[in-house]
Amino acid sequence: MRFNLDTILILDFGSQTTQLIGRRIRELGVYSEIIPGDSPLSEELLSGKTLTDTGGRTGGGIRGVILSGSPESVYTEAGAAPDPRVYRLGIPLLGICYGLQRMTWDQGGCVDPLPKREYGAIGVKIRAVPPCTEQEAGRSGGHAGNAEKTQRFLAGFDKAVSLQDITEGFSAAAKTDNPPVSDSVPAEYRDCSFTAWMSHGDTLTRLADGFREYGTSVSGYSAVVIHEEEPWFGLQFHPEVTHCERGMEILAAFVFGVCGCKREWTMEQYMEGLKDSLFKRIGANPVLLLISGGVDSTVAGALLLKTLPADQVHLMYMDTGLMRKNETETVKTALERLGAEHLHIIHAETEFLDALKGLEDPEAKRKVIGDLFISIQEREVARLGLPETCFLAQGTLYTDLIESGKGIGKKARLIKSHHNVGSPLVDAKRKAGRIVEPLDRLYKDEVRVLGSILGVDEEVVRRHPFPGPGLAVRIPGEVTREKCAILREADAVFIDELKKRRSAHGRSLYDEIWQAFAVLLPIRSVGVAGDERKYGWVLALRAITSADGMTADVYPFPSRDLLEISTLITNTVRDIGRVTYDISSKPPATIEWE
Ligand code: XMP
Repeated sequence: MRFNLDTILILDFGSQTTQLIGRRIRELGVYSEIIPGDSPLSEELLSGKTLTDTGGRTGGGIRGVILSGSPESVYTEAGAAPDPRVYRLGIPLLGICYGLQRMTWDQGGCVDPLPKREYGAIGVKIRAVPPCTEQEAGRSGGHAGNAEKTQRFLAGFDKAVSLQDITEGFSAAAKTDNPPVSDSVPAEYRDCSFTAWMSHGDTLTRLADGFREYGTSVSGYSAVVIHEEEPWFGLQFHPEVTHCERGMEILAAFVFGVCGCKREWTMEQYMEGLKDSLFKRIGANPVLLLISGGVDSTVAGALLLKTLPADQVHLMYMDTGLMRKNETETVKTALERLGAEHLHIIHAETEFLDALKGLEDPEAKRKVIGDLFISIQEREVARLGLPETCFLAQGTLYTDLIESGKGIGKKARLIKSHHNVGSPLVDAKRKAGRIVEPLDRLYKDEVRVLGSILGVDEEVVRRHPFPGPGLAVRIPGEVTREKCAILREADAVFIDELKKRRSAHGRSLYDEIWQAFAVLLPIRSVGVAGDERKYGWVLALRAITSADGMTADVYPFPSRDLLEISTLITNTVRDIGRVTYDISSKPPATIEWE
């Protein structure tokens, strides 16, 4: 199958945000492909004949190339370089952070360490330098049209130009060959200063020949650089990061204004590609997927079931007894509705609760749960008697890879080791080249979209994240069957209410919140119920907003909602005597309590 999608090729030099660039381009409705930064750029690849995405399909025309950031420096050996042919293609290039430094270095400019790293929100001033005219470009032997491309690129910085103007104006212009809508881009760049997001320890100290500086950071370093003759653009900051003002507009200005891409990428196409490649890779072999009950593994399950005959697909789910209310039933129903034939549900509540007896230390609890999870999993997989050729599928997301691979925190690594990465089964399958992780280029909200397209129950698709060790990390102190039962009830009341209540924007509170749950504190407090003294447990409610769980803000409930929910919980869950609301953001607190 050959697809002719307009493609942005991303050369990955190892930045943590490379996948985010790909994701933003997809959000703009344009197909993007990420390959290692130093990959050879053969004619064949550039003509799209060998270019493959996770879907295994061939790509269409490459309209532009983005050189990503990197943790390395261009002047060290570790700093990888692109195939020099990238500079002879005549295809627009956008260098982001290291990508810009790379272009500068490769073209004979200078890059040196900064005395102090620039990190976080930094103001950028766009300078009133008019781009060179077509005649100037022509005189110096450059490609005609770069002045126009420069104008179009700079529209991304102009606060008078909306994202819609850029995406619709430029992509329509690209289709009809009409002149661009850049009349609104003021020659003097009236209001083009903005707050960018940076993370760099090196800076340009001399531009390469032919480049001109269009923007500087408040500290005076080059932030926006454009070549006068070639369609080469460079940004010292990261437009792909949400905190970067005008980030999407700048990327859109490159993708539509400079590269002339059409908006033709959809999740449906991506899904078809994923199915193709899964089908080719797994063939007639059986595949085993370990289902956690969360969105990711359920969507991975749906994808397998929609791709392969149901009798090839084995799904294994472990009820640890530490699940949310009705969790096992919901997952079972959702998977059966998707046509699951081999759904192995392991009921291991007693084993887990026995192992947790007497344990109070959070890390000790996590370790016991993680180890037991792995040993039961090994035992049960062996019991299934699947052949050696069996594939192991995982619902790994891109953010899981960042967390485990780059080791953002100790707990982040534990997330992976608990669920899959550290298990001997996964190690053995990885060694044998029999692991499939079809969602590993997607972010959680993209997985939700994919899940809806695949027909996964909305209740599962919209479900908030849930940690592998389950309620055990929401019961500080010793975990008992009774405490699990109380917490399950209280949590269900809280969550049901969030689903019923609407925010000022008309959405349910549940959908507005990224993750909400209750925590059963190891404290009892005195109260009254009727005429009687009550000595009930204290419950903490937690609700946060977040993009990916790495940072989080407290959800600012209207106080009426909180008061009513509190009353409802204490009235319906007999053992709860008092309710508090956790008002800690992450950092410094984590989302879970343990
Ligand atoms: P923290 O508490 O580290 O949580 O701020 C960030 C996100 O990760 C989830 N989480 C886990 N997920 N296994 C998981 O699968 C774990 O051990 C684990 N610990 C935390 C947490 O619910 C939040 O969404």
